Amino acid sequence: MTASYPHTRLRRTRATAWSRALHRETTLTPADLIWPLFVTEGVQVEQPVAALPGVSRWSVDLIVDRAREAVELGIPVLALFPNTQPDRRSEDGAEARNPDNLMCRAIRAVRDALGDRIGLLTDVALDPYTSHGQDGLIDDAGYVLNDETVEALVGQSLNQAAAGADIIAPSDMMDGRIGAIRAALENTGHSNVQIMSYAAKYASAFYGPFRDAVGSRGLLKGDKKTYQMDPGNTEEALREVAMDLAEGADSVMVKPGLPYLDIVRRVKETFAVPVFAYQVSGEYAMIEHAVAAGAADRDAMVLETLLAFKRAGCSGVLTYHAAHAARLLHG
Ligand code: PBG
Repeated sequence: MTASYPHTRLRRTRATAWSRALHRETTLTPADLIWPLFVTEGVQVEQPVAALPGVSRWSVDLIVDRAREAVELGIPVLALFPNTQPDRRSEDGAEARNPDNLMCRAIRAVRDALGDRIGLLTDVALDPYTSHGQDGLIDDAGYVLNDETVEALVGQSLNQAAAGADIIAPSDMMDGRIGAIRAALENTGHSNVQIMSYAAKYASAFYGPFRDAVGSRGLLKGDKKTYQMDPGNTEEALREVAMDLAEGADSVMVKPGLPYLDIVRRVKETFAVPVFAYQVSGEYAMIEHAVAAGAADRDAMVLETLLAFKRAGCSGVLTYHAAHAARLLHG
């Protein structure tokens, strides 16, 4: 007790569950969740991803089942990623622009089954389609070319929009791609298709399991440090966000998630725009392996980490725990 506030006891409002509920400043709901799903070829195929215990790749028909599940759980958006067949990967990632690629077939199937009852966010970057695993087109030295890649990404975006995507989410980190994609969408009658930019995406050690899931890990030569951000930088993240907003992004993303909540907070305070974060594959795997080792309570850890994103300023979170978290939230 201090002399000036003799009767102040911060524990008073924490004493009962009803009082804690009344005083809670931040809440998490299923509407805050975006569920990333991996699509694979075939019918009635579920392929567990070894590096992501509890996560599977699903064939298009089963993606539709997952979409129904999401609607029932109150999850507003799915984020789709394709596991492209090896023989469809190439140096230039042309499959990304094929109107009948796995991604487009999944978009159309969900749209046919559920109409506007669920949002579809589609990843734009070439890594699930290139034979070298980089997010863009490379020169002889393996350097990812910026402007040539932007052109390819515009084609990929229009392909997804034509199939029925609601939110184009470029995860490639090329300069100038948001403006180019926005202009192309406007010019082709897709003015209501949103862009959620992976604006501050770091060259992170936490993406490994995802690369297994889309099948690019074994292909990737080198790293992505010439385009993804250096983990030491904050000012540069603010410049990335400012550029993407100026070019027409509707919302921005910070990625990875928990290790970068300071970036979320700085972006939110600086720009006052919708900010999302991606609790990435390595973060998911850390929780699952801690649980498997008996070191943690999964349910409590999942809800606490997701709430932390909200507290930091996120409008929503991409998480592989989305369906599980939504079930927990429904009680
Ligand atoms: C690539 C992409 C990556 C993720 C989403 N889009 C990996 C990478 O940049 O190598 C990672 C997501 C995750 O780890 O869960 N365009």
